Amino acid sequence: MKIDILTLFPEMFEEVFSSSIIKRAREKGLVEISCHNFREDSLDPHKKVDDTPYGGGCGMVLMCQPIFDCVRKLKKENSKVILLTPDGEPLHQKKVIDLSKESHLILICGHYEGFDERIRTLCDMELSIGDYVLTGGEFPAMVVVDAVIRLLPGVIRQESFENDSFYDGSLDYPNYTKPRVFEGMEVPSVLLSGDHKKIEEYRKEEAEKKTKMRRSDLLKEGQDGDILLQED
Ligand code: ADE
Repeated sequence: MKIDILTLFPEMFEEVFSSSIIKRAREKGLVEISCHNFREDSLDPHKKVDDTPYGGGCGMVLMCQPIFDCVRKLKKENSKVILLTPDGEPLHQKKVIDLSKESHLILICGHYEGFDERIRTLCDMELSIGDYVLTGGEFPAMVVVDAVIRLLPGVIRQESFENDSFYDGSLDYPNYTKPRVFEGMEVPSVLLSGDHKKIEEYRKEEAEKKTKMRRSDLLKEGQDGDILLQED
């Protein structure tokens, strides 16, 4: 997969993309990530990228020209152009799975007060990482990249993400490791039983209990009154 990121602050990505699993995925050649400072594409003699809003109001608005030119330079037939914005479609694991099957993502990070509305016409998709407003699209772009890369074949073991929260629409089951007792808190005995069928049942029940308690919005009622996952 190839990922291009349009940002005025490419240095924000350096550490994140040179650490841990993303670093390994890049080294193995499973993903190629490039950041592009679209200020370099500005045709303005002072490399201006923003201006005051028509109709008045505070703050500066990102202009069309630098972003249009930068996207047009990078875009191929198979590219998906994605704008990070708080008014985009909420990012869910299902969407992340879809994105992990693409071959080329172009992520556009907004900044300042906002961007010229016409920039939306360049995009195949607009994504929000939550109902709060950040100073720019850089952190949301990192979130998208991290969530997508871990699903690429060869990055982590398939079993690792098949057990993820949200993979099948429910939350994850609880995990424990050594020691068996820590400050009086014991590991549930079923996990020490070696009975794989029982362990699987226990984990399923715990995941369902947690989903019901914390995220009832992920559940729906079936025809016979059963509680089902929204996904089913
Ligand atoms: N830019 C600013 N806030 C954002 C958010 N919540 N999601 C995506 N992009 C953003």
